[in-house]
Amino acid sequence: MSSTPGDIASIVKSALNAIKGASDLAAIKLVKIEHLGDKSALAKASQSLGSLAPDQKAEFGKIVGAGKAEVNSAFEARVTQLELERDARVLVEERVDVTLPASKLPKGGLHPLTILTNEISDLFLGLGYRVAEGPELESEWLNFDALNIPADHPARTMQDTFFVEPLDAKLVLRTHTSPVQIRTMLENKPPIYVICPGRTYRADELDATHTPVFSQVEGLVIDRGITMADLKGTLDYFAQAMFGPDVKTRLRPSFFPFTEPSAEVDFFFNGRWVEWGGCGMVNPKVLQVCGIDTDEFSGFAFGMGLERTLMVRHGITDMHDIVEGDIRFTKAFGLGGR
Ligand code: DAH
Repeated sequence: MSSTPGDIASIVKSALNAIKGASDLAAIKLVKIEHLGDKSALAKASQSLGSLAPDQKAEFGKIVGAGKAEVNSAFEARVTQLELERDARVLVEERVDVTLPASKLPKGGLHPLTILTNEISDLFLGLGYRVAEGPELESEWLNFDALNIPADHPARTMQDTFFVEPLDAKLVLRTHTSPVQIRTMLENKPPIYVICPGRTYRADELDATHTPVFSQVEGLVIDRGITMADLKGTLDYFAQAMFGPDVKTRLRPSFFPFTEPSAEVDFFFNGRWVEWGGCGMVNPKVLQVCGIDTDEFSGFAFGMGLERTLMVRHGITDMHDIVEGDIRFTKAFGLGGR
């Protein structure tokens, strides 16, 4: 059954209405399929032209063509308009206020051991000391021999010390900061006033009170007329800065190959004596190895663990907290902005 001009007019009208009624780009897409697609009433009217007589075909063809053109241009206009509306809406909805403050990235913090090291360095710099450093991979000679530690000393076994391959290179991960004493004395003439903070290694298992990687601070003074009283006074000053003005220290006789006499230093804190470190007058044998005239100069040295210092001072009961570097633990010590 062929269409009449009246049919075309109503087909065009309903297409135009649908175009007008499409409220967004998704809707107009459907309108296009229904009213402009291959199966639309207009397309069918076009197809039916073929079966008309030639005079009818010309006249009717014009009407269909004009209808198609009208619907097409209404469609294009509507699409353009809907695109403009969409662009305007996106501009509003996806607006970014570049003046808003950025969300804060969490800041890293200095590790409490670093904060403590800085604190101790500041303290001794204030007394006129220098901060000296040495390598963590150290020669066996500096770590042991020059410090008068005999070849058969138990600390020199594989169970205690990390020897580094190839073994004939005679390198160890330093087991204490004392080799920095030797380096300092070999490189500088007295008077010498240094502290040497740093990382040290021993073949221990990590548990609540031990760690194979730990930290020490070494102190070394070489000058004319230095006595044990200077050592005691310095340790008192150090302990009071660490644990408060009322803290007491005591020296207990002990033995270290590199000091003579030697002592353990303890401090009294929260109702108990706590072992802090070792100390003593630098053994003349060690001074001589470093070419220091023992008639003119004498000196003292001390060395203590930083983890122990931190744990006692802050009531930390588990070494894992210090070793793991969790930012939540670090934060409790502030961010180290000294
Ligand atoms: N080096 C010793 C250790 O790691 C600690 C020590 C003891 C250091 C006595 C010293 C000292 O300077 O005089 O166990």
